[in-house]
Amino acid sequence: MAGIDYTALIPNNVSLHENRRLQRALEDWQPKFLEWWRDMGPDGFQAKEVYLRTATSVDAQGWAKFGYTRMPDYRWGIFLAEPEPGRQVNFGDHKGQPAWQEVPGEYRGTLRRLIVTQGDTEPASVEQQRHLGRTCPSLYDLRNIFQVNVEEGRHLWAMVYLLDAHFGRDGREESEALLQRRSGDADKPRILGAFNEKTPDWLSFFMFFFVTDRDGKYQLASLAESGFDPLSQTCRFMLTEEAHHMFVGETGIMRIVQRACELMRERKTDDLRKHGGIDLRTIQRYQNFHCSVSLDLFGSEISTNAANFYTTGLKGRFEETKKQDDHLLKEAAYTVAELDGERIVTREAGALVSLNERLRDDYIADCARGVARWNEVIKQHGIDFELRLPHRAFHRAIGMFADVRVSPDGQVVSQAEWDAKHGNWLPTEEDKAYIESLMQPVTEPGKFANWIAPPARGINGQPVDFEYVRLA
Ligand SMILES: [Fe+2]
Ligand SMILES: [Fe+2]
Repeated sequence: MAGIDYTALIPNNVSLHENRRLQRALEDWQPKFLEWWRDMGPDGFQAKEVYLRTATSVDAQGWAKFGYTRMPDYRWGIFLAEPEPGRQVNFGDHKGQPAWQEVPGEYRGTLRRLIVTQGDTEPASVEQQRHLGRTCPSLYDLRNIFQVNVEEGRHLWAMVYLLDAHFGRDGREESEALLQRRSGDADKPRILGAFNEKTPDWLSFFMFFFVTDRDGKYQLASLAESGFDPLSQTCRFMLTEEAHHMFVGETGIMRIVQRACELMRERKTDDLRKHGGIDLRTIQRYQNFHCSVSLDLFGSEISTNAANFYTTGLKGRFEETKKQDDHLLKEAAYTVAELDGERIVTREAGALVSLNERLRDDYIADCARGVARWNEVIKQHGIDFELRLPHRAFHRAIGMFADVRVSPDGQVVSQAEWDAKHGNWLPTEEDKAYIESLMQPVTEPGKFANWIAPPARGINGQPVDFEYVRLA
């Protein structure tokens, strides 16, 4: 790959051309990334022109350039948010010291693990969604899935940059391993459970971006507080892209909800399967599933790892610097949910060991705001139904609720009751078969599948019937 002009090929603001060692590492990695992208990226559309947003710099003019691109030609760039002059470590034992520009030797292993775990989710989601293009509900949605796919690819670049630039040979080995694990593979699965689940249909896809990718947003936001400045700068820029990912998930479900309401009113029934819609109860079951697997991603309620990440200054709280406390938390308490026999109660625990639960709380509050906006749509249609987030203890596989059966409204239930009722709470085989039957591609500009309403407006000021992907 000699002779590549990296300033042209890889937009960046990390002075790649000045760092020969890093440039060589990325030159070595780039063809492997493209090979992975061809093998595991969107299936069937690699040669098509897609109306994509590309970041060519981090300022207001450059971070969102729109134009037609074939996905393998997408310019996966490396961007750090502008440095904050005089930035300090803002929490933990090193609070008040200058932020680290190099990895502190004693935290090398821990920091590498944090970066690899985040990095692993990025290609995983691309793999999970690779067949969905073939059943897109519209060209608008097809373009949106490809946008998030190329950006998750860019997020992989962002993490690989950190590994290659700051972790020497170990970092380069981790960069390779990130391309070798595969979502759902029995022998070399992705690191986190939710990223090994299938995303077989577009309802699951939108739910993924509403709840699962939102976990990513909260993890990035707490890594953006890191005392390791390059990680902070990298994550801060990634968060600007995440806003669109959250938008895709939330508005996708909102449009399905809207279509359900329209059909309910037109047909005067809430049994929409005869009419090709997705009823609100099915949406609720899908939400229960995706929400519960995403809540697991935050880890155990009580975690000494989480405490260590904080006291060592590696990973902060959501909006750490906006909080008015000592940023040490050694004496502080936090309320966590806990199992007390057959009941779920709350108790005060040490604030440091409860940091996972605190981040989960911030996340749940954010999810709840989205659900409230969906419910607004239902209300506007005069329909008496409310979508709800499941209780945090429902259907959990990690943490203190992993071994109990809990209903979506937070009641501990017996195994017999679970067996009798879980079909009301989680997607059934029948639900899945029905949703799958709806997955027929709609690719005429401006047309939408019957189960989803068109968006209120197009992308980047373009009309809804714009040719977002050139299929011809
Ligand atoms: Fe991402
Ligand atoms: Fe994302």
